[in-house]
Amino acid sequence: KTIDSLGDLRGRRVLVRSDFNVPLDGTTITDDGRIRAALPTLTRLVDAGARVVVMAHLGRPKGTPDPAFSLAPVAARLGELLGQDVALAQDLVGESARATVAGLADGQVALLENVRFDPRETSKVDAERAELAGELAELGDAFVSDGFGVVHRKQASVYDVAERLPAGAGELVLAEVESLSRATTDPERPYAVVLGGSKVSDKLGVIANLLTKADRLLIGGGMVFTFLAAKGHAVGSSLLEEDQIDTVKEYLAQAEANGVEIVLPTDIVAADSFAADAPHETVAADAIPDGKMGLDIGPDSGALFAAKLADARTIAWNGPMGVFEFEAFAGGTRAVAQGIVDATAAGAFSIVGGGDSAAAVRKLGFDEAGFSHISTGGGASLELLEGKQLPGLTVLAD
Ligand code: 3PG
Repeated sequence: KTIDSLGDLRGRRVLVRSDFNVPLDGTTITDDGRIRAALPTLTRLVDAGARVVVMAHLGRPKGTPDPAFSLAPVAARLGELLGQDVALAQDLVGESARATVAGLADGQVALLENVRFDPRETSKVDAERAELAGELAELGDAFVSDGFGVVHRKQASVYDVAERLPAGAGELVLAEVESLSRATTDPERPYAVVLGGSKVSDKLGVIANLLTKADRLLIGGGMVFTFLAAKGHAVGSSLLEEDQIDTVKEYLAQAEANGVEIVLPTDIVAADSFAADAPHETVAADAIPDGKMGLDIGPDSGALFAAKLADARTIAWNGPMGVFEFEAFAGGTRAVAQGIVDATAAGAFSIVGGGDSAAAVRKLGFDEAGFSHISTGGGASLELLEGKQLPGLTVLAD
């Protein structure tokens, strides 16, 4: 169900769940991508004359109000982007929220304070979430689910409230699902997936699923050292999940059996310590010296990965190739991003998923338009690549 299924919205109170979980430095938003991504839905509702009440979380507060996680900076930025003042209620379902909603005129937008200040939001007890969802539902006449980054969470403001009001998916959720479906359902081949990030254990489900779906899996980031160790190579003092080595061995065997090509780096930028200015050198990936820590894939690997992406028709990328926040270890991530941009220009459909890779793309100065789709979802986009059913989406099914 979509916004279209909600009928005429003029004068009606529309509760919207957005994902405004943005990175903050104190009270300064360092990347407002998720707020900008919410604008198509919000401006559509404003233009339709709805009274828009937005719910969102920020960080993982402990179920109690905490000024460090206040949505105040988000309300201010959202107001700038929408060109209207966005009132921030001081609570979620209390007196302030009710008064703020009652004060809305047609076409105005208000934000409720962090949904995770209420412990019932993330409760595992159905009745507790249901109770909060009932209180939230009293603040709206319809519900629009537009926080793509949280649709994998069975939480009151994502899932339970959708059962209590006429509900539909917003523009962002629709665009995200449509793009990710192009990779998960019958992708145009060759289908290449680049996986990075620090831990194999965070990506087990996605790797298992991709071993039946993708044609090529390119592995970088901290997780690559567990792959190198599984092949019997020395990894020095690089990040290593010893308890995952056997699982990775099984993946390598399964890939071979399924005809999925696993591409591992051939060289590694290895440093003396984890620091921006640490002395470093490029070494062979199968012989990382004792005491050295791999912090990026090397230049030959960057070229190899780009070559493996060049003729792909569908590309999904999740997770940086190295510690891109430090310039000395950003080369691998830059090479992969460039490889994807080039492949996209040559006709591939490309998706960048996961907060870190999207942030890397922007931080390294790439034009977002060079990729077919940059997902706002971290865990949510990974779970779709895993082939899972997400509660925040199934609850919107017609
Ligand atoms: C995200 O940052 O991926 C989403 O906002 C979800 O946040 P969460 O992992 O704290 O639920």
